[in-house]
Amino acid sequence: MKKTAILILISLVVSASFVWGGDVPMDRLNAFSKKILDLREHVMGYPINQNVDLKEFYEWYVQSGLHNTSMNNVGNPRKSSALLMNTHEFENEVINFFAPLYGFTPEEAWGIVTSSGTDGNDHGVYFGVKYLLAKTQMRPVLYVSEDAHYSIKKIGDLQNLELKLIPSDVMGHMDVAKFEAALETNKPALIVIAIGTTFKGAVDDQKGIDEVLQRKPPLAVYRHLDGALFGGYLPFSEHKEVIDRKLMHFDSIAVSGHKFFGFDEPCGFFITTQDVLDRQNPFRVPYLNDAVPTITCSRSALSPLKFWWKLQRHSMADFQQQAADILANATFFKAQLDEAGYPAWRNPNSNTVFFKRPSQAVMERYDLAMEEDPRLGGLLAHMIVMQNESREEIEDLAASLKADMAKDKAPAKP
Ligand SMILES: Cc1ncc(COP(=O)(O)O)c(C=O)c1O
Repeated sequence: MKKTAILILISLVVSASFVWGGDVPMDRLNAFSKKILDLREHVMGYPINQNVDLKEFYEWYVQSGLHNTSMNNVGNPRKSSALLMNTHEFENEVINFFAPLYGFTPEEAWGIVTSSGTDGNDHGVYFGVKYLLAKTQMRPVLYVSEDAHYSIKKIGDLQNLELKLIPSDVMGHMDVAKFEAALETNKPALIVIAIGTTFKGAVDDQKGIDEVLQRKPPLAVYRHLDGALFGGYLPFSEHKEVIDRKLMHFDSIAVSGHKFFGFDEPCGFFITTQDVLDRQNPFRVPYLNDAVPTITCSRSALSPLKFWWKLQRHSMADFQQQAADILANATFFKAQLDEAGYPAWRNPNSNTVFFKRPSQAVMERYDLAMEEDPRLGGLLAHMIVMQNESREEIEDLAASLKADMAKDKAPAKP
């Protein structure tokens, strides 16, 4: 009782020392930024490019006076908006840059800069439902693999969709035979295809899925690609056909911005066709001068501006080099583990390597992500090679894994 009273007293004294509305406690902020910058050096388990490099952008932003202005990209960026303080012109240029890289023609493409990959997936599923409803007057069944990102399942739940979770093979791809068995031909099908699953980095077999749809055509089909990470680098690699709408016939794609491209906050983009857009519920909003096709009203004006800045700063050749480098480094890392006999796996065209889970100390030192799969011996971890990870850092992780394995094999002390 006495101890509880003392703890309450201490917490009252501590909270009283923070004065809202007073000076900003810079010591605290500086300690916080140091902690984050220290972490930056050895985080290897998450698909975030830490080479953000937006110093010049922010210098311009402050010098221009825009730091003291609130802009907002509410509305359809392709139509003039009632709210004029926006960055729609830059948002459109970002979408115009990316659309042809995924095989959309300039005439058919429509898109937005999103707040994240999840936001793009949310639009993909929502637009897909409305498109299929307009075509068939029926709500679709949502098909997605067990290895797909959890956001798809959550979005299905949020949009109250019947969800068919298709089992995946051991390397993480949707099992096409099981998809065929689950497919209901008397209902429209909304299929979310993983272009790089979160943990194993598997790209679903679009040709195989297509063959099933030809053999057993459902009432109508909408294909959305979740290309959160791989969708960023594949168009700049020699494997770009995987993500080419002219060959793969998808209806929309979502990609994260902060993963491959490197931003200081989550963002992304969503691209679909004008035909899909035309079949959406218009929800006309007179005070905004037009229909608002996006799910949210207010949208960041700053992210499209930063994206545009990044596209000015980097050439196609730069992005191609970055894509080649992360894939070469993933090959290098996997080879190091193979040489040592450390159990590890990697899908083709993937910058993700997954392996037997090491000790907790190694997990924490490199901030590795974890998963479990009894088919691969149980506990697993993965690392994702991003642009900020050097060969030395990759070798350092490989050495730690090898040392861990050696400890495991050492005879127990008597
Ligand atoms: C395959 C996949 N889809 C979607 C997401 C979610 O993307 P975001 O974090 O940009 O919302 C992730 C995140 O890691 C992912 O790996």
